Amino acid sequence: MSHSPVSEDLLIDLTPDAASSRAGPDHKERRGVMDCIRIEGGRRLDGTIAISGAKNAALALMPACLLTDQPLTLTNVPRLADIASMITLLGQHGASVDAAFDGAGGDTRRLTLQARSITSATAPYDIVRKMRASVLVLGPLVARHGFARVSLPGGCAIGTRPVDLHLKALEALGADITLAGGYIEARAPSGGLRGDTIVFPSVTVGGTENALMAATLAHGETVIENAAREPEITDLATCLTAMGARIEGVGTNTLRVEGVSSLTAATHAILPDRIETGTYALAAAITRGRVHLSGTRADLLHAVIEHLEETGVSITPTEDGFVVDARDRVLRGVDVMTKPFPGFPTDMQAQWMALMATADGAAMITESIFENRFMHVPELARMGADVNIHGGSAIVRGRRRLSGAQVMATDLRASVCLVLAGLAAEGETIVNRVYHLDRGYETVEAKLAGCGAAIERVRG
Ligand code: UD1
Repeated sequence: MSHSPVSEDLLIDLTPDAASSRAGPDHKERRGVMDCIRIEGGRRLDGTIAISGAKNAALALMPACLLTDQPLTLTNVPRLADIASMITLLGQHGASVDAAFDGAGGDTRRLTLQARSITSATAPYDIVRKMRASVLVLGPLVARHGFARVSLPGGCAIGTRPVDLHLKALEALGADITLAGGYIEARAPSGGLRGDTIVFPSVTVGGTENALMAATLAHGETVIENAAREPEITDLATCLTAMGARIEGVGTNTLRVEGVSSLTAATHAILPDRIETGTYALAAAITRGRVHLSGTRADLLHAVIEHLEETGVSITPTEDGFVVDARDRVLRGVDVMTKPFPGFPTDMQAQWMALMATADGAAMITESIFENRFMHVPELARMGADVNIHGGSAIVRGRRRLSGAQVMATDLRASVCLVLAGLAAEGETIVNRVYHLDRGYETVEAKLAGCGAAIERVRG
């Protein structure tokens, strides 16, 4: 692998060795290295934040390299610990990796992956347990190699998160699936997967991605009904099409895939990260500041923008993004319910709660995707937020001045919600377990400090 290191030590090192060491808490805990983020709250954000490529799109696009022996080049790749974990995983399946992250010229943030042959069909427990998206190698491996052995991901902080729908989709294409020793073993019939109709009983992003990738190399036509419509799926379909896949219905909930015998080389630019965009939009709002979000698209997060405007924040489109202006505004509480795209994203729920804790009046936040995604509530309460949970809904009574505290995050979006709360709180906030943030937010402290936040990473 060739790798061009960058000078800023805030950026994640994407070499496979570094990747395996950065991918989770255990390594850091072993070394006693636990960074935290220190924030002195109460400063309005004012400035521009450049949005990175979408983590969740990258994590689906990268395994697509396993579908072909030709190179797949991705640009606008975010520099994140999860990307490093996926590089490690793909490397051990046999993909060569060439990364250019030198921060100069037009060839930056580029990743070229080439799996000339599949050298191992096993996705080991040690990688999968750190990053659930590892399960996205399943469809491509079975489709091209005829066999895959992928560790069951297990539960996570936000719920049990089974992969039964991924497996049912592959079974519909003829795969024989067994579970043994904590591993999923999936075997294609002799002659390969066969196209068929897959009906998802509920919307699953990862399940749709696995089914879509597998169907590209299946014999005949596959119809995926009740497919997820997230922009990351459209991005994956666009890339697969560039690789020679035949897909119709992109952007709708019915995808039709006519299988082809092989896929070829392609270059694809990853779409902007809509969750990072929404998070910084809410950072501007919670500090009653003004931020230009550049390198992004408002159409990726209509539901968030609509709700944000309802609170009283103004949104103005620009050539390459939009401006969020909350200066001198009294924000109102606004209810949200999480839904699959184009609804309000579950990945923005925790951040919305932080904003609502500082708004005028009450807001009801209903989580309909994950059963246990209110883990941030007790931590927000330690900062003075008034939140009551009733089943899948939380009532937030806003207008409280939050106060800084030591807090601990349980997952990626919970961590960033505590960072947002810290930006608005009086006094000092310390957010522990920063490795969660590094999984999904590139140089979060540098991006916020660039807009005037008093925020720093304290090396553990
Ligand atoms: C993806 C995103 C994640 C986001 C989620 C929902 C990535 C890498 N992650 O996760 O950030 O929060 O979409 O927008 O893209 N389910 C089952 N059986 C399955 C699969 C899913 O019951 O086989 C359930 C899940 O437990 C959950 C719901 O379906 O309650 C939606 O999950 P899904 O859309 O599959 O989420 P992910 O793809 O894991």
